[in-house]
Amino acid sequence: MPDELVPLPAGFDRAVEFPIVRRWTFLNHAAVAPISARAAATIAQFAGEARDDAYLSGRWYERLEAVRRRAADFIHAAPEEIAFVKNTSEGLAFVANGLSWRRGDQIISTAVEYPSNVYPWMDIAARQGVQHIMLPEENGRIASAAIRAALTDRTRLVALSHVEYASGFRHDLAELGAACRQRGVLLCVDAIQSLGAVPVDVQSMFIDFLSADGHKWLLGPEGAGIFYCRRELLTTLRPEVGWMNVVNATDFDHYDFTLRPDAKRFECGSHNVPGLLALGASLELLEQVGQPVIQQRLRGLTDRLGHGLEQKGYRLFSSRAAGEDSGILSFSSPRHDHGKLLAALRARKIIIALRAGRLRASPHFYNTAEDIDRLLEALPNN
Ligand SMILES: Cc1ncc(COP(=O)(O)O)c(C=O)c1O
Repeated sequence: MPDELVPLPAGFDRAVEFPIVRRWTFLNHAAVAPISARAAATIAQFAGEARDDAYLSGRWYERLEAVRRRAADFIHAAPEEIAFVKNTSEGLAFVANGLSWRRGDQIISTAVEYPSNVYPWMDIAARQGVQHIMLPEENGRIASAAIRAALTDRTRLVALSHVEYASGFRHDLAELGAACRQRGVLLCVDAIQSLGAVPVDVQSMFIDFLSADGHKWLLGPEGAGIFYCRRELLTTLRPEVGWMNVVNATDFDHYDFTLRPDAKRFECGSHNVPGLLALGASLELLEQVGQPVIQQRLRGLTDRLGHGLEQKGYRLFSSRAAGEDSGILSFSSPRHDHGKLLAALRARKIIIALRAGRLRASPHFYNTAEDIDRLLEALPNN
């Protein structure tokens, strides 16, 4: 049997921090996660301030800068390298639409990306004569060597999800990023399936651009995310321009179209203040729990599930190799209809998902061994 889970931090009451546990066995954080209780309280506080005082008492924009610092720390970036975005797609679009492409440039990606990391590159390929190469998955993995072997003198950008949404496969970004940097190839990462679940370090992973909304492993609401742009590249991306991207944005009466030198040059107008403040509250919670505890618990929970599933005759699809695992476990039944299984689980208040024709469970750190056992008990043998 897999090792014991490390305990949740002293004083951490999961039913208080995540009241959803009282109603559901929620194992679907790779879809849309519950927001933490403190994120919900932050939104309620914002609503009260906005109702009673408009923007006069909340010091919202100062608080947003604290969120920006927290988000930067979380990925080992500087606050000047972080822009707030409305979703992952917006950050990826900043890169796709902001780089000046040359006919014949190559974009290397995989054939198993979530569509948000496919269509922007297809769009650029169609409009700019760029080649979009999608490398296949083999047995739930995309070998790092295959990606490195695909790099040529024409390769301009590698576009990857750090963790692939359907298989849960985690790319070795440190190795790939080093190879890209050495060849002058840009690395653009969709981190929505990794940030909050596995460590992300933009420096040691040689990441040039990263985008992630907060509504999965970061336990924030939809519509509030972060975009990272490596400092040296800030001026190479042409931003979408509005009133806020400029140095004297609040001097409304004097037009001065000088773009800001930092990543705020990508923020064109007013922000999703409640969403971003709530994201900040969940980031604080994740920091307090700590990456080692999150990592160990996710590994323990997915190991326990994988072990139990194999005993019941299910086929595991996700790689369990160290460094290739994540919070996602993808599996299939050789005998039962997956749609019917999903519905039967839901009737028992257990939530997982169906992706790429397989079942996908995605517990977070606050789930327990009992949650996993409830899922296992509810699944029929094969
Ligand atoms: C890998 C990946 N990227 C992006 C998204 C969502 O994109 P957005 O934040 O733009 O809605 C998902 C959602 O499932 C995803 O799995």
